[in-house]
Amino acid sequence: MTIDVPEHIATLIPYSPGKPVEELERELGITNVVKLASNENPFGPSPKAMEAVRRAVSQVHRYPDGGSYHLHQALAERHGLAPEHFLIGNGSNEVIVDIINTYMRADRRPADRGVTGEYAFLVFRLAVQSRGCTPVMVPFRDYRHDPKALLAAVDEQTRFVYVDNPNNPCGTFLRAEELDALIAALPEHCWLLLDEAYFEYVDDPRYPDGVRYVRDGRRVIVLRTFSKVFGLAGLRVGYAIADPELLSYVNRVRDPFNVNMLAQIGACAACTDTEHLERCRLGTAAGKAWLASRLGELGVDFLPTVTNFYLIRVGHGGAVYEALLREGVIVRPMGGFGLPEHIRVTIGTQEENARFMGALRRVLKRA
Ligand SMILES: Cc1ncc(COP(=O)(O)O)c(C=O)c1O
Repeated sequence: MTIDVPEHIATLIPYSPGKPVEELERELGITNVVKLASNENPFGPSPKAMEAVRRAVSQVHRYPDGGSYHLHQALAERHGLAPEHFLIGNGSNEVIVDIINTYMRADRRPADRGVTGEYAFLVFRLAVQSRGCTPVMVPFRDYRHDPKALLAAVDEQTRFVYVDNPNNPCGTFLRAEELDALIAALPEHCWLLLDEAYFEYVDDPRYPDGVRYVRDGRRVIVLRTFSKVFGLAGLRVGYAIADPELLSYVNRVRDPFNVNMLAQIGACAACTDTEHLERCRLGTAAGKAWLASRLGELGVDFLPTVTNFYLIRVGHGGAVYEALLREGVIVRPMGGFGLPEHIRVTIGTQEENARFMGALRRVLKRA
């Protein structure tokens, strides 16, 4: 049997997610594995979201609301925009893919291009390639997106520039004046996809709120998610904030029931739980400070971060990842991001952070 696969699909290297806890527990025959690999919220979902989801379970024999009406209303209120400014997806990943599938064309010669930085979140690059279009990666400068290099790579075929701000995995960000200049210089045929998955964690006053650009009618699509500080990664809810007409075409492409019923209900309830959000933010800030001091004592190189994760240079990232697995701690090796000397660790609960530091100390001592 021969299967005719397009070249751009055959050469696609799939996204490799963090190893699941259950898988490692099965492999090691233990029950206390710590997962700090996917930048989830270690403090769990909002109790209000859990209660709302519990109450809704008896209705799951029905299809969800295909238009996510109540969640549109909740987001409109949260951001002070009309409901038409939002497109909600099965995680912001799906939103990225739907936007690319709507607007990027492989039938032009040369095919459309999507420009981003070399260490940007991988999903953009994969989505562009899956579409049969051309991803273009430009170098980072000092572990940050380089606006000048991004702009220099934009040509007639470039439909999108993707910036994850802050960046995963470096935990760095572009300041307001840097983004302002980048947006002002983008040509008419090109949009900035501004992924703000970690927005709620950032407390640096130099960090820009991308929604401002949408309000001002700039060529910017902002992406946010309920997977990080909102603690709903398992439900899968993310969204775009952008010009209503631009989103109306993406709306034609998306799966009609892309956001499941429990996800819509959980996300609506999470929006109202500002106390939980604040508790999680403070818990992560405390963990961040604690880890920074312990990593400093250990003498390893790590980047300051505005997010809920650290990028740490350990020498051989893959080997340290494997050794940490044997200690029951799952982090993320960064070879797939082009950073083979690094691991990325999510800031966990105090207990999880202590487990990680203990294990890292032992592993590095043995190395
Ligand atoms: C920059 C960035 N964007 C998007 C996502 C994925 O978000 P979602 O769970 O909403 O698909 C992640 C998750 O790690 C991320 O780091």
